[in-house]
Amino acid sequence: MDSSFARRVIRWQRQAGRHDLPWQGTHDPYRVWLSEIMLQQTQVATVVDYFLRFLARFPEVRALAAASPEEVLALWAGLGYYARARHLHACARRVVGEYGGQFPSSAAALAELPGIGRSTAAAIAAFAYGERAAILDGNVKRVLCRHFAIEGAPVGAVEKSLWTLAESLLPPLSSAPQITHEEMANYTQGLMDLGATLCLSRTPHCESCPLATSCLARQQGRQESLPAKAPRKAKPCRRAEFLLITDGKEILLQRRPSSGVWGGLLTFPEGREALRLLGQEGHELQPLPPREHVFTHFRLEIHPVVCKVEKMPDMANQPNLECLPLKTALKAGVPAPVARLLEELRNFVSRIPP
Ligand code: ADE
Repeated sequence: MDSSFARRVIRWQRQAGRHDLPWQGTHDPYRVWLSEIMLQQTQVATVVDYFLRFLARFPEVRALAAASPEEVLALWAGLGYYARARHLHACARRVVGEYGGQFPSSAAALAELPGIGRSTAAAIAAFAYGERAAILDGNVKRVLCRHFAIEGAPVGAVEKSLWTLAESLLPPLSSAPQITHEEMANYTQGLMDLGATLCLSRTPHCESCPLATSCLARQQGRQESLPAKAPRKAKPCRRAEFLLITDGKEILLQRRPSSGVWGGLLTFPEGREALRLLGQEGHELQPLPPREHVFTHFRLEIHPVVCKVEKMPDMANQPNLECLPLKTALKAGVPAPVARLLEELRNFVSRIPP
């Protein structure tokens, strides 16, 4: 029996890997691409509903390309990392404009499109076309660092050598039996599944692992200390005061500029100065408990204050401001901390006297 690294991963994936995720069982590059973009930085359990909702609204890439950026963002709202939604839309438009609606069929060409990095390009090419291309996401880095007892955090030069290693481990090209499309998909999914279900950061399940017999970290009892952690810089902290201006029925929201944090999404106006600009000074302000939201590069300390008004301000001349019903604002494309505050606010306003 061939017991190469790749063969063991393929065999294990077939027997014990995940097979019933909604983006599996298809080679449709559109579905594969959509799922892989959503799965960047986001767990399977969170992605499933979003994936199904996107597919129902945009059954193929032309429908997505034809949508407005606001609609795409509104459907994406809550998944986080919103640059992904902007890139997703830009990518759909490029596929339609430059490739006649057909995704390019090599990892190299896919990697030229917005939002598709090297590992995502390889995953799409392996699942959709059976291309022999190496992936290296966070989970796969952990599997490789442990199996080969690789020293140092998997960034920079170590990451570069991991790419070389990942390519050398691909099922062999020339020797029989030749790798098939299904095997390449099983191998790619198998590496992901190993990292997500067995080779966990803490308390890995080595007893069930198909690679355990040759795993150096296991032989050395170093599973929990490999891979080494990259030294983390303390994230700077920013402070924002969110103004929840409401008459109890509607809420005032502001559309953010299309690039930058929460680009294109609706959030609350910020800071006391906004009250003056909106002509809403003199109302009693009621603070809600502060909270924190962590972004990739900084932490945001959020101080919400409710400003209950008798009449919502007239927004006719304010292109980036919108008064929306409290009941439906949640669905208009708001980031998760804003969604949570809108829910709190609905309870809050029902308790304060008119
Ligand atoms: N993470 C990234 N891609 C994935 C996939 N295809 N299945 C499960 N988790 C993933």
